[in-house]
Amino acid sequence: MTAWWTRSVGYQVYVRSFADGNADGTGDLLGITERLGHLADLGVRMIWLTPCYPSPGADHGYDVADYRDVAAEFGGLDALDTLVDRAHDMGIRVLMDLVPNHTSDQHRWFQRALADRSCPERDYYVFRDPAPGGGPPNNWVSHFGGPAWTLDPGSDQYYLHLFLPQQPDLDWHNPAVRDEFDDILRFWFARGIDGFRIDVAHALIKDELLRDNPVRDATVLTDPEARRSFDGLEHRHDLDQPDVIDIYRAWRRLADEHDAFLIGEVYLLDPDRMTRYVAPDALHAAFCFPALRTPWDARAIATTLAGAVTASYGRFAWPMSSHDDPRAAERFGGGDLGAARALAYFTLLAALPGIPFLYQGDELGLDNARLDPAAFQDPGSRGRPVVWSRDAVRTPMPWDTSAERGFSTATSWLPIPDNHGAQRSVAAQVADPGSVLHRYRALINGRDAWLPDTDDVTWLPVDDTLVGIRRGDVLVALNTGDEAAQVDLAAYGAIRFASIDGAEIVGTSLVLPPDGAAVVSLEG
Ligand code: NOJ
Ligand code: CA
Repeated sequence: MTAWWTRSVGYQVYVRSFADGNADGTGDLLGITERLGHLADLGVRMIWLTPCYPSPGADHGYDVADYRDVAAEFGGLDALDTLVDRAHDMGIRVLMDLVPNHTSDQHRWFQRALADRSCPERDYYVFRDPAPGGGPPNNWVSHFGGPAWTLDPGSDQYYLHLFLPQQPDLDWHNPAVRDEFDDILRFWFARGIDGFRIDVAHALIKDELLRDNPVRDATVLTDPEARRSFDGLEHRHDLDQPDVIDIYRAWRRLADEHDAFLIGEVYLLDPDRMTRYVAPDALHAAFCFPALRTPWDARAIATTLAGAVTASYGRFAWPMSSHDDPRAAERFGGGDLGAARALAYFTLLAALPGIPFLYQGDELGLDNARLDPAAFQDPGSRGRPVVWSRDAVRTPMPWDTSAERGFSTATSWLPIPDNHGAQRSVAAQVADPGSVLHRYRALINGRDAWLPDTDDVTWLPVDDTLVGIRRGDVLVALNTGDEAAQVDLAAYGAIRFASIDGAEIVGTSLVLPPDGAAVVSLEG
């Protein structure tokens, strides 16, 4: 029997910014429930909710204070139960975001660990004595810049945090931590949750000896632009350790008992290193991050995706944007052009073996929000020389043409940017049959009818402007050039979807306008 996710399109909901159901300016679960119709019309079959657990919010929910509850600001457990029930009624599965690498410093485990060196919870975390000459135990740095160690003055030991000091890392060598999380998974499966997106799935296990990482670039290591300093080290001992897969083997057995789905945020840029995370007894899927970094360049797209498809065994998910990365429309030039190109790119992703995944607002062709740095909330950018803030991709969804764009009747937690004008809103695009929203709906809802059963893909000969695949009786081509492309089909065929007006079949060729993609069913 085919698993339910294999032919689904996924959609990431950034909970704080999707829809505000109780008029306090912050998105919540009631708001999502009220807007499920939009997702059903779009045709997505699973949604991933960014963390909605109780949290002090140091990293907007990725600092969890209680893994078995839902924050009051998002509506509590009852609101989640209602959302899940309604979503199921509409044929939409719901994934939660599991954050197992670290907890909040306010989690009771960490509070106990600080209060009592000899309590069991102390060993849930990675506390170590200072280096022999003083200072942090090793040279690791945090993703957000600065050392990955903070001193606990109560014990004169340091604790490890690959992210903020308010996000202490758990010690996954400790079986008690594993037991806790088995129990957390069971808790949510029993409540009807359909699976999890697993945060930093490649980082849970660290080198037991905590050896220094080799320095790759000492200049970058001390760069004041904090996010870059992480690239100054080769992450030999803190990421992608061999034993991490054992954790997923155990979770896979639990998930399969509940027909649930596990998809990892395996943020490794080499697809060959990702493969082992999606082994048949490990995670069901992993996000392929190289897919959301491609420039608008046929050769770069072909090289990136061809390598990834080969490594994926049909078990990669294909994002083109996320709440952490610049949006596809921005990357491809912004405005209407960027929006058209992103749709064309998603057309290609939708034809690959695996799971195409939209980030909220992609279906509207949103580009990055132009925000005043004074409004920034993201800990990765606050108080730093800013070249990039994740806030630019976290602003509220524009639902209608009103000033707050129908997101909230209060002032929203991040401002609505001028470049997400009324014409980009859901309401305006629903009213416009030529909008990108209508095209995403047509692509996603029509996909099942043309998607071949085979996972075998061959790549069309790549040139400077054309990239495409043949999969079973389907051919998909994408034109990154300035002129119409002529694609030899070597057969008669019919266009099943085109991302742009003007695509046509002439004899046994597909004529494809610039910045467009088309799906063709071939005859014979
Ligand atoms: C990845 C999440 O997507 C990101 O938003 C977060 O800051 C880090 N993991 C830490 O949890
Ligand atoms: Ca709210």
